[in-house]
Amino acid sequence: TSIEKLTLEVPEATEFEDGSRKQVTVFFGTQTGTSENFAKAFAEEGKARYANKVGFKVVDVDLYAADNEQYEQKLKKESLAVFMLATYGDGEPTDNAARFYKWLVEEENEKTNWFSALNYAVFALGNRQYEHFNKVGLIVDAALTRQGAKRLVACGLGDDDKCIEDDFSAWLEQLWPELDLLLRDTDMDASPATPYIAAIPEYRVMFHEQSSSPYLPEAADNYGESLYDAANPCSANVAVRRELHTPLSDRSCTHLEFDISNTALAYETGDHVGVFAENMSEVVQEAGRLLGLPLNTVFSLHEDHEDGRPLAGAAGSLPSPFPSPLTLQTALARYADLLSPPRKAVLAVLASCASDPVEAERLRHLSSSKGKDDYAVYISETQRSLLEVISEFPSVKLPLGIFFAAVAPRLQPRFYSISSSPKLAPSRIHVSCALVHGRTPTGRIHRGVCSTWMKNSTPGDGAMNMCSSAPIFVRKSNFKLPSDPAVPIVMIGPGTGLAPFRAFLQERSSIQDSGTMVGTAVLFFGCRSREQDFIYKEELSAYVEKGTVTDLIVAFSREGPAKEYVQDKMIEQASTLWKLISSGAYVYVCGDAKGMAKDVHRALHMIVQEQGLLNEIDAEALVNKMQMDGRYLRDVW
Ligand code: 2AM
Repeated sequence: TSIEKLTLEVPEATEFEDGSRKQVTVFFGTQTGTSENFAKAFAEEGKARYANKVGFKVVDVDLYAADNEQYEQKLKKESLAVFMLATYGDGEPTDNAARFYKWLVEEENEKTNWFSALNYAVFALGNRQYEHFNKVGLIVDAALTRQGAKRLVACGLGDDDKCIEDDFSAWLEQLWPELDLLLRDTDMDASPATPYIAAIPEYRVMFHEQSSSPYLPEAADNYGESLYDAANPCSANVAVRRELHTPLSDRSCTHLEFDISNTALAYETGDHVGVFAENMSEVVQEAGRLLGLPLNTVFSLHEDHEDGRPLAGAAGSLPSPFPSPLTLQTALARYADLLSPPRKAVLAVLASCASDPVEAERLRHLSSSKGKDDYAVYISETQRSLLEVISEFPSVKLPLGIFFAAVAPRLQPRFYSISSSPKLAPSRIHVSCALVHGRTPTGRIHRGVCSTWMKNSTPGDGAMNMCSSAPIFVRKSNFKLPSDPAVPIVMIGPGTGLAPFRAFLQERSSIQDSGTMVGTAVLFFGCRSREQDFIYKEELSAYVEKGTVTDLIVAFSREGPAKEYVQDKMIEQASTLWKLISSGAYVYVCGDAKGMAKDVHRALHMIVQEQGLLNEIDAEALVNKMQMDGRYLRDVW
């Protein structure tokens, strides 16, 4: 269906007198839809700017070509390409750009002047809080220039920590004049086109007779097929749920087991699980109140007129509707992201739905580039949720068709490092999930959607149909044990960073059970105190006893007079670590990317430099080489 969708979205370009056809190809690499939305908005604006005389083709990077050869052939024929590429995880491409990225990076070495006919621009999407800020966009940008393509403007650096929409607008302001030089024709109006105003996307909504059941059979998702992914997840029951912290802890961490027996779902040690959770009922109720509709309202969403004609204006920018008819309750619980801060584009939609001119003006200001600082204060710094914002503008009345098309983004799956190994738990997927819970500057208690759902879930055997279930799917990772179990490993994972290492240990333990010797395994774990949040303490002790873990080194951050973190313990063990690294050990880091992984990286660098008696540059080269060889792996978020 994605291919069908693609061809539908390709706008017709007018033939020019000389028979040439001007076309801009807009590539997007997206994980949660941001860059796809930017790509579509850019294309719409471009069509308007050049009075529909230039074709703008929006394509998913990996769907663009079936194989490497096609990439080469097809890209060589492009004369104008715009890339919008997000960086994800530990400086990695998004799932839908992985193949393209690998191809470009790997094949580039053998080529020169590959794309000499190409004009291009890259807008990178990322978050400055992370180490590899916009790495993917920057690498693609540099590779294209090296290969002879002409860079129209400097790579745009979108920072989602602030307001990425402002970064995008600023970048577009530089790009349009360059595109004008290439695309504007003599017969086009010399004055710039009238400013493009995006039509507000809106579904046609049909209301149906109310039903007492919140789950209507017609609206059943497509669960139960053999090929599972985010678009086609598998419904799994919660078999086990238990708290991992002791009652002395003021935080919470849930151990959850999804039952995957009787499904075709399979996983490997080190993989991730994507989980679609539901919003809490009080959040759903508040949303229903703000929409002014009872939660048992039954409706369906349509992308066309009753007679089948596509809806005008918003075509192409409408997300595909979720299965319907369904109750408003189910729609809000499953599909609407209600707690994230709204983007500027959403505030513009709210403005157009406000009947009070003062409210409309305030919202319009917040969504404008002039309102940059006010947006930062009112939305970014205070972490105001979509629901909070809507409730603070009471004259805003949102029709369902607009709400689901342009106001509430789709609720995204959350990813967790699986904390079990299929060797020990072939029919279960274990998750170790810390509760996201805290007061925001406005006084709201923010509760993470998925961690709250997990904490409140009901475990069961499924037979009585009483237990909780969620649509889930497995995402492959590169975070894998060395294929030879004799190779030594060093694992660094404070807090829930322990999750994949629990899986590693289950795997190595079952290898031991089969009579094979396993190599040295050092585990650095960190928590606040042994009385509160030393998760899986008994299991870890048993692994030490059995020799699966050679050395368990725990940093307690809130026990002694001074904080101790895993990186401090690593420094204490510098010479042991250096010996292991020199003998070929694999080093694994899992957990928080913004703080811990950066600090651990610095510690590792220091150990290599001091113990290996290297200068800074050689130490860095050695760490980089470990990374390139897949011997230093990170699973960070
Ligand atoms: P803290 O909460 O006392 O600061 C798991 O969450 C453990 O990771 C806790 O002991 C936490 O300590 C610790 N931690 C917090 N920031 C860290 C960092 N930058 N590097 C390593 N550990 C960190």
